Amino acid sequence: MTIRIGIAGIGFMGMVHYLTYRKLRGAKVVALCEQDPVRLSGDWRSIKGNFGPPGEMMELGNVARYSEIEQLADDTNVDLVDVCLPPGLHAQATIAALRAGKHVFCEKPIALSAADAVKMCAAAEKAGRLLLIGHVLPFFPEYRFALEAARSGKYGKLLGGHFKRVISDPQWLPRFYDPEHTGGPMLDLHVHDAHFIRLLFGMPKAVNTAGRMRGAVVEQFTTQFVFDDADLVVTASSGVIRQQGRPFTHAFEIYFERAP
Ligand SMILES: NC(=O)c1ccc[n+]([C@@H]2O[C@H](COP(=O)([O-])OP(=O)(O)OC[C@H]3O[C@@H](n4cnc5c(N)ncnc54)[C@H](O)[C@@H]3O)[C@@H](O)[C@H]2O)c1
Repeated sequence: MTIRIGIAGIGFMGMVHYLTYRKLRGAKVVALCEQDPVRLSGDWRSIKGNFGPPGEMMELGNVARYSEIEQLADDTNVDLVDVCLPPGLHAQATIAALRAGKHVFCEKPIALSAADAVKMCAAAEKAGRLLLIGHVLPFFPEYRFALEAARSGKYGKLLGGHFKRVISDPQWLPRFYDPEHTGGPMLDLHVHDAHFIRLLFGMPKAVNTAGRMRGAVVEQFTTQFVFDDADLVVTASSGVIRQQGRPFTHAFEIYFERAP
């Protein structure tokens, strides 16, 4: 069986997903949706990201092309819509696709507000379709190793950890700090570690964050996660350093009662 995929948003992640699907058996990209006509035509040379290959000229053949999210949602040739749009559009695109009977894979963060996230989950339940959010850390070998080590109990009780995620200023994303568009480093970066921390330690009962603001969003910060179990000491630092050329870095340490 082949899952027919329509990608919404051909920026950095849309391109990475497109290139990845080409290597998979059982998945075929049959449609693309992008508001930029140059990218829609197959000229991806303007695409840039934190890592991964630069954009190239693509031969898109008979892949259907749309400029409106609703047109992609209504394409009867599509089984699954892959939402790689800016986060401010995740709810609109996901709900339109679910209502049209598609399954949805949506990039992180799920949405810019909890209210939108709840609406997206409700739309998936109502439509009887799957909704998966692109939280990738548990699929990285080093993070999976940590999760398995914690769950196995072989090193004793997990006592805490520290997580880090830092990027240079992403100047190619002019609306990165717009709270209605991307949401800044808290929603773009910190959400990865917050998701992984929840998998490792459970749901915190409180979080305390302190950091430096940049306009309406926080630029660089540290969060302490507080749990019912007062022995757990868990912190995460994320943000943007105003220095070009600094590579993206992420890292963690976790602490066990009986590490070898
Ligand atoms: N999982 C990860 O590690 C990871 C890494 C990077 C980005 N992401 C996520 O991927 C998503 C996209 O990020 P990106 O860096 O690719 O952004 P981007 O700005 O490079 O790409 C977004 C694309 O959407 C297009 N677009 C915007 N509005 C549109 C509309 N109304 N209709 C059609 N197209 C529209 C833009 O023209 C652009 O080409 C974000 O949610 C981001 O958080 C995830």
